Amino acid sequence: MLMVLLWRAHYHKEDFLLKKCRKDLVTTGDFEKVKQKLEEMNTWLNRAFKETSFINVNKVFEPVKKRDISSRKRILITGGAGFVGSHLVDVLMKDGHEIYVMDNFYTGRRCNIEHWIGHPNFALLHHDVTEPYLLEVDQIYHLACPASPTHYQYNPIKTIKTNTLGTMNMLGLARRIKATMLLASSSEVYGDPVQHPQKETYWGNVNPIGPRACYDEGKRISETLCYSYYSQENVSIRVARIFNSFGPRMHPNDGRVVSNFIAQAIKGEHLTIYGDGKQTRSFQYVKDLVRGLIALMNSNYSLPVNLGNPDEYTIVQLASYIIDITRSNSSIQFLPKVKDDPQRRRPDITVAKTYLNWKPEWEVKKGLQETINTNF
Ligand SMILES: NC(=O)c1ccc[n+]([C@@H]2O[C@H](COP(=O)([O-])OP(=O)(O)OC[C@H]3O[C@@H](n4cnc5c(N)ncnc54)[C@H](O)[C@@H]3O)[C@@H](O)[C@H]2O)c1
Repeated sequence: MLMVLLWRAHYHKEDFLLKKCRKDLVTTGDFEKVKQKLEEMNTWLNRAFKETSFINVNKVFEPVKKRDISSRKRILITGGAGFVGSHLVDVLMKDGHEIYVMDNFYTGRRCNIEHWIGHPNFALLHHDVTEPYLLEVDQIYHLACPASPTHYQYNPIKTIKTNTLGTMNMLGLARRIKATMLLASSSEVYGDPVQHPQKETYWGNVNPIGPRACYDEGKRISETLCYSYYSQENVSIRVARIFNSFGPRMHPNDGRVVSNFIAQAIKGEHLTIYGDGKQTRSFQYVKDLVRGLIALMNSNYSLPVNLGNPDEYTIVQLASYIIDITRSNSSIQFLPKVKDDPQRRRPDITVAKTYLNWKPEWEVKKGLQETINTNF
């Protein structure tokens, strides 16, 4: 509304100022004073218009489903300007819900959600989750947390605060407004697993003082907080243990293996593998993950659920796929193993299949192709 008023004021400025000028002159008769006042107003109007001109009032949005008030939900997505969050925003916006994105833009980017800014169903809250916030919503997807080792190890104390204070603030909000909160947890809660594939009942093997601990233990305490609010305060919670995911809008410099390899292959540089490359990972395409998160949120299942693609690849295999798809001349370079890097990762997704009727649909090669086409 404000945007439209400012826009109108800008284009009809002369008329508007003229009328105001006439009225003031009639009442005061002091021409110089009125002139000075109008000059001040004109400067203010120009500045206000300049500051808000990034919003295109004629913007065309992708169509969204029309919902009546009873089926339209108000949904808060923390970390919604990040890689996974922005894809979740797209799906829920198109499904006709009211979306509030809360982000401090640590790793998130405005361009990931820019296409919704100005839409009546969309609001952007520039806020850090470590500070409390009051808002009335029906559901909270709590994704705020840097996810790549480069980013979460840059300021480990902040990562811990985001996972403790941030999660407590969101759980506190969920308790007050009786919303359901979904936590984006991680397969990192399993650490370097001795059980393979990993079931949700496995307690993990995490080094509590290693370089990855701020994230791994951060996610573990986030889960503990969820179950404490659930048992003590009856808060409705969902916990998704997300395995390696990839897709468009991944940060090209985030240091994660898929983005690293694609960037290196495209530039014709060596694809760098830490260790012997026999360590395995499973990779899920972001669209499968988003479908799983929504299915979990709208289910009645409150225990942790693995969301990942069980197809397992060695890091060397992944590197050769990417070299093939990008038709690159790059070769592979082996570097010393990174401390606490898990040797094997593969989700057991029986719980997701049974309780959410969910399984991944995107093959890794197809997802890689799509990512390379849109992202790089
Ligand atoms: N992408 C994966 O493979 C993966 C795997 C396991 C778990 N996860 C989890 O999923 C979530 C999203 O991951 P992603 O890959 O989109 O990461 P991302 O870094 O792209 O997104 C995280 C978002 O959270 C925001 N954020 C960080 N700290 C914040 C704070 N204190 N207050 C407000 N906003 C804050 C960032 O600015 C960013 O927009 C994270 O919680 C991550 O731990 C992701």
